[in-house]
Amino acid sequence: MIVNKRIKSVCTANIVKKSKETHPLTWRLNKEGKTIWLNEYVQKEGYIAVKRILKKSTPEEVKTEIKDSGLKGRGGAGFITGIKWSLTNEESLLLCNADEMEPNTYKDRLLLEQEPHLLIEGMIIAAYANNSYKGYIFIRGEYIDAINIINIAIKEARKKKFLGKNILNSEFCFDICVHSGAGRYICGEETALINSLEGYRANPKRKPPFPGQLGAWGKPTVINNVETLCNIPSIINYGLNWYKKLCLPGSEDNGTKLMGCSGKVKNPGLWEVPMGITAMEIIEEFAGGMIKGYKLKAWQPGGASTGILLPKHLKVQMCSNGIRKLGTRIGTAIILAIDDTVNIIYFLKNIEKFFNRESCGWCTPCREGLPWIVKILKTLENKKGKYKDLDILIDLTKQLTNGKTFCALAPGASEPLISAIKYFRNDFDKLMV
Ligand SMILES: Cc1cc2nc3c(=O)[nH]c(=O)nc-3n(C[C@H](O)[C@H](O)[C@H](O)COP(=O)(O)O)c2cc1C
Ligand code: SF4
Repeated sequence: MIVNKRIKSVCTANIVKKSKETHPLTWRLNKEGKTIWLNEYVQKEGYIAVKRILKKSTPEEVKTEIKDSGLKGRGGAGFITGIKWSLTNEESLLLCNADEMEPNTYKDRLLLEQEPHLLIEGMIIAAYANNSYKGYIFIRGEYIDAINIINIAIKEARKKKFLGKNILNSEFCFDICVHSGAGRYICGEETALINSLEGYRANPKRKPPFPGQLGAWGKPTVINNVETLCNIPSIINYGLNWYKKLCLPGSEDNGTKLMGCSGKVKNPGLWEVPMGITAMEIIEEFAGGMIKGYKLKAWQPGGASTGILLPKHLKVQMCSNGIRKLGTRIGTAIILAIDDTVNIIYFLKNIEKFFNRESCGWCTPCREGLPWIVKILKTLENKKGKYKDLDILIDLTKQLTNGKTFCALAPGASEPLISAIKYFRNDFDKLMV
C-alpha cells in the first residue's frame, strides 16, 4: 500500500469551516479531517436535494437545472456537465471517475475520505436525471482508506433507503458498486476506464461513439469526476442563479473549485476557492508564499500534464479562459510551485518517465515518442546532448499533439516539454555541445 502521509496531512490541515453558501463543497468538514458519516451529513442538510428532486422534479428538469448552471467537469477536460448528460436519453449507467492519478493531484481523495455522502448524493441525483439504475465508482487502487470509507458510507445509505430499490419509497431504484483499479494513470481516461471496468486491458477507444452513446457493456454511460458530482446537491438546493454568482468576475467557469498548492511553500494544501481567483493569491495568501531560502522559478497550474509557467504569469485567473490565454489548461487546479533549486531538465525527465511508463502503447507516436524523449532528456542531464537533440525533441512534441493519438495522454505529456523549451531554452542550450 502506497499512501503518502504528507499528502494526507495536506488534505486535512487547511480546511477552515466556512459558510454553506460560499463553500458548498467543504463547509461541513472538520479541522481534524474526520469522515462525515451519515448522521452528521443528514444533520448538515444532507440528502435534502435527493428528497426534493424525488418529490418535485422530473429527470428532464434536473438535467436542465444542471445544464443551465453551467457546471463544467472537474476531471480535467472541463466539458459542460449538462450537455454531456443531454446526450443520454435512454436508460444508462453512471460511472464516477475516482482514478485520480494525475501527479500532484489529491482533491478527489479529500472528498472521498471526508465527504463520502456528498458524492453518493450527487450520484443519486445524476442517476435520477440520466435514468440510471446502476452506478460504479472506479477508484484508484492505492486509495485504500477512501475505498473502505466509501464502502461503509454506501452501506449506511442503503440502510436508510437512500440507495437500493424504491429510494425513499419512490419508484426510483439505484445502487452503487465500488470498483478499485490496479493503479494505472490511463484508467482515468474515460474509455480506458470502461475497458478496465469490463475486465479488458485499459486501452482508450476511438471517439465517437462517445460513452454517452455507447459505453460500458454497450449501454449509454455517463462518466463524471468525483468533484463534478459533489457540486450537484448544492446546485439543486440553492439554485442555478446562486451557483453562477459564486465565481469571480472574468471567469467563464461558474462555482467554486478545490484548488491547491504543493512544492517549497510555507503552507501546502487544498482549499475551496471561487473560480477565477488568481494563481498569485493561491501561492502567496493560501500557501503562505515560498519557504525562506527558496525562490519561485516556475509553476504548473494543474497537474503534470499542464504547461510550465513563469512567476510573471501569476496574476492570471485560475479558470479555463484565464489559463487558456497562456497556452495551457487549468487541469486539476492544484498548483506545483517549482523552486530555484530545481533543475528543469531533471524535472522534465521525471515527468516524461511517468508518462512513458503509463502509456498504454496503443498508438505509435506515444509508444515510440515518449521513450525517445526520456532518452534525450537523460542525455541532456548528463551534459552529453547535441544541438540536433533539441530539434528532435521539438519534432517529437509535434507528433504528440491532439488528433495524432488515440487519447489525451500524449498531448498532455508534450505540454510541459513544449513550454519548458519556450521558457527555459537557456537551460537546454547550456547542456548541449
Ligand atoms: C490520461 C488521462 C487520465 C485521466 N484521468 C482522470 C482522472 O483520474 N479522473 C477524472 O475524473 N478524469 C480523468 N481524465 C478525464 C476523463 O477522461 C473524463 O474526461 C472525465 O472523467 C469526465 O468527467 P467530468 O466531465 O466530470 O470532468 C483523464 C483523461 C486522460 C486523457
Ligand atoms: S496516446 Fe498513449 S496512452 Fe493514449 S491511446 Fe495512444 S498510446 Fe495509449
